[in-house]
Amino acid sequence: SSSNQPYRTGYHFQPPKNWINDPNGPMRYKGLYHLFYQYNPKGAVWGNIVWAHSVSKDLINWSPLNQAIFPSQPSDINGCWSGSATILPDGKPAILYTGINPNNQQVQNLAIPKNASDPFLKEWVKIPQNPVMAPTRANGINSSSFRDPTTAWLGKDGHYRVLIGNKRDTTGKALLYRSKDFVHWIEAKHPLYSAKGTGMWECPDFFPVLSKSMFGVDTSVDGPFVRHVLKVSLDDKKHDYYLIGTYDSKKDKFIPDTGFQNIDSVLRYDYGKYYASKTFFDDVKKRRILLGWVNESSSVADDIKKGWSGIQAIPRAIWLHKSGKQLVQWPVVEIEKLRANPISWPTIKVLKAGQRLQVTGVTAAQADVEVSFEAKEFKKAEVLDYWMDPQVLCSKKGATVTGGLGPFGLLAFASKDLKEYTSVFFRIFKHQNKPLVLFCSDQSRSSLNKNNDLTTYGTFLDVDPSHENLSLRSLIDHSVVESFEGEGRAVITARVYPTLAISDEAQLYVFNYADADVKITRLNAWSMKKARIN
Ligand code: FRU
Repeated sequence: SSSNQPYRTGYHFQPPKNWINDPNGPMRYKGLYHLFYQYNPKGAVWGNIVWAHSVSKDLINWSPLNQAIFPSQPSDINGCWSGSATILPDGKPAILYTGINPNNQQVQNLAIPKNASDPFLKEWVKIPQNPVMAPTRANGINSSSFRDPTTAWLGKDGHYRVLIGNKRDTTGKALLYRSKDFVHWIEAKHPLYSAKGTGMWECPDFFPVLSKSMFGVDTSVDGPFVRHVLKVSLDDKKHDYYLIGTYDSKKDKFIPDTGFQNIDSVLRYDYGKYYASKTFFDDVKKRRILLGWVNESSSVADDIKKGWSGIQAIPRAIWLHKSGKQLVQWPVVEIEKLRANPISWPTIKVLKAGQRLQVTGVTAAQADVEVSFEAKEFKKAEVLDYWMDPQVLCSKKGATVTGGLGPFGLLAFASKDLKEYTSVFFRIFKHQNKPLVLFCSDQSRSSLNKNNDLTTYGTFLDVDPSHENLSLRSLIDHSVVESFEGEGRAVITARVYPTLAISDEAQLYVFNYADADVKITRLNAWSMKKARIN
């Protein structure tokens, strides 16, 4: 019952029990969305990894199917790790995934549907030629750092290309393989891209985005009207980083606008708990969708007690911001079907210095909240003399630290006595004579259970608050707060395990603990209905 399981999500994807990690092989096929994911059928910790499988008509309500890919042949007998789907020219999908062989080496395998006319794609056949890519003495590839094939793309020469995550010493690499028939793969002389000191690149993703449109395009699309994105999940950092750049299809190389020289200034999909993400092209709705694993902040002991670990983030549409300098992410519109009992604050409200207002009328533990602030008194903004890591800045200046202009934002999962709350808020500084917007997700008071990871997250936001209101949308769901700032220009996801602010005991507030007043220019909130999640 929900009283024993107050942390299970109402509309974020999770299976009934056990461990999950990366989303795998997402695709749209014959009217259904497919989500496969890394799953341990035997417990709430990582291990015994198979591909579990669910399907959906709307990316929100999911029906479980039997496991799709599980150890059954030497080339995957010790585990079926992450991989991706490619829709071939005949319209049929193919899956490349990493298998762990009897010597615990990482190799790449190909699986195809047993019956491609089945829209559920229930059964998968592993081809007899597996593995189709393997580390050998000749290629010198490290067999413990060779995994997570991407969706393949088709070059103008009619050959497929795919990337495999790799490292050599501490240089992270996206190894490139080519194939004419999708079965025989040959390693290219050079990786698509590599970067010193970045460590193992897990779950690479490489895709085009239109320069001047929110629409998505198929992974093989290329031309002067697209830019390319390379995303890698850095094992050493446990964050998903991305570079925007140019794909030189003649040399088969990626040339990023700016590289990995300063890791702290490389863009991330999400500045909180979010990892091993992957995109796919939705050819019916003409959009690119991003899926990602929201890893835990609970302890292993607590995971075992509750019997599960990990959820999937709400699927996000993803496109290039009109500045061309960053991506924008927004929860798929289908999530709005779950909105119920709308409340909306009618007129512009002044939120006075030090003020806190409760948002009533929504189920605060399962809600969708949109709020926008207008800040005007820039002369009160504190001066930031030198650049600082935004996450460090957020942990130094948490929600309780009064500032000139900020903190203002939301208190989610607040207990009645305010002993617990998760705060997501803005703070405006003056840096080099311009306003600089910091956004924080402060978990330090999220739970009285101190076994949780209570790390504070933060990022700067590329928004000029003298021209634009500061917007925040939080998807709150029992143990997760997924927050989109600046209309999707930054995202922070937090996992929280309050002990008091659970279910009906949870409350929601807007607050302004600054010296200056701010205006709330918009506040809309909804209770969220439960989604059918397996
Ligand atoms: C990323 C990852 C992948 C690997 C899989 C194993 O979280 O480590 O590199 O394929 O998980 O479950």
